[in-house]
Amino acid sequence: MQVLEVLRRSPTNENWALEGLNTYASVRDAIAAEDCNDSVHVFYPEKLAEMATRFLNGFRGTNLYAVKANPHPAILKSLWQAGIRDFDVASLREVDLVSKTLPGANLYFMHPVKSRQAIRYAYAMGVRGFSFDTLDELLKIEEETSGATDLRLFLRLGVAVQGAAYELSGKFGAPLALAPLMLQRARLSAQRLGVCFHVGSQCMRPEAFADAIGQAAAAIKAADVKLDIIDVGGGFPVAYPGMEPPALEEYFRVIHAALDTHGFEDTETLCEPGRALVAEAGAVAARIELRKGTDLYLNDGTYGALFDAGVPEWPFPLDLVAGDDRTFGEAVIGYRAYGPTCDSCDKMAGPFPLAADAREGDWVVFEHLGAYGLTMQARFNGFYSETLVAVSGTPT
Ligand SMILES: Cc1ncc(COP(=O)(O)O)c(C=O)c1O
Repeated sequence: MQVLEVLRRSPTNENWALEGLNTYASVRDAIAAEDCNDSVHVFYPEKLAEMATRFLNGFRGTNLYAVKANPHPAILKSLWQAGIRDFDVASLREVDLVSKTLPGANLYFMHPVKSRQAIRYAYAMGVRGFSFDTLDELLKIEEETSGATDLRLFLRLGVAVQGAAYELSGKFGAPLALAPLMLQRARLSAQRLGVCFHVGSQCMRPEAFADAIGQAAAAIKAADVKLDIIDVGGGFPVAYPGMEPPALEEYFRVIHAALDTHGFEDTETLCEPGRALVAEAGAVAARIELRKGTDLYLNDGTYGALFDAGVPEWPFPLDLVAGDDRTFGEAVIGYRAYGPTCDSCDKMAGPFPLAADAREGDWVVFEHLGAYGLTMQARFNGFYSETLVAVSGTPT
């Protein structure tokens, strides 16, 4: 069976970035040929290259890819091929992964709370950019880099802005009232001093970035220190059903205008996109293992790549691929879905609008799940998927 399976697969790709991935013309072809027991992760390399080009051409500063969104080596290498050289990492393992996969990459450790081992390891691996949002963390960075004089230190500001579908302000960020003192203190040890913030993921209002830049400018003015770098973070959005954000280029226009208004024309500028770079470049195909009325039991769920479909109930664009050669009728109904684990939290309320004649063996394809999908898998109950395929051409 295993031998047959291997024989039926398409030849693996010789492109360095896609090395080891089977490549197909459609999701349907991939599903049929892989004959996979687990869900199938799909990668659309052309879409990734297109999004990287939009950031590289449109944003006037340096684009750091937020590795957490999708750390698969094929994604990292494809971004490198597209021209991305800078990466936002959040953990010792991400430092390790990116520095080994892409030895020439510039890494920025932008998690404001790091272990001492992780700081030491990152510095030894050549990382010089670190963020902090307390004086305790700043001291930790100074101590674990033995008083290094080549650090790029970023104060993460707790900006108050509206417009993100996924709030990120509660956990990290120095209160603006304390920021001037922290900037003055960090200036003493930073070779280059920066500020950063995160307006929240899937930010639907470009003006939120302008508001945050304004708040950062006020804190820097109050600190009366020289600022070298402003990092406007991630949060750039993607279109999902019922969520149609303005074009990415409008975000760049608003950000650039706000930077100019607040006197940052000549300041080094960074951004840290995760979702907007990779979401549309991926999909997850989950098989229906059983149908009970309008409940679908899938082979992926909230402990796997469909966390966002079940927990924050993110509205992904959906396709349905028949497990055989039949075509679906016109009628569509709303389904609820369950993941494969035995935990009753493993459910997705939906309703997922799919053909009324969907049945066991068909595959539900969650599009725009190239971000925060593959990376969320917990392996609970032995359910996870290591199958990533490239689909070159039109989705499904
Ligand atoms: C520090 C940091 N930068 C960038 C990102 C990426 O955000 P997004 O995927 O919304 O662009 C995140 C997401 O959590 C983050 O915590």
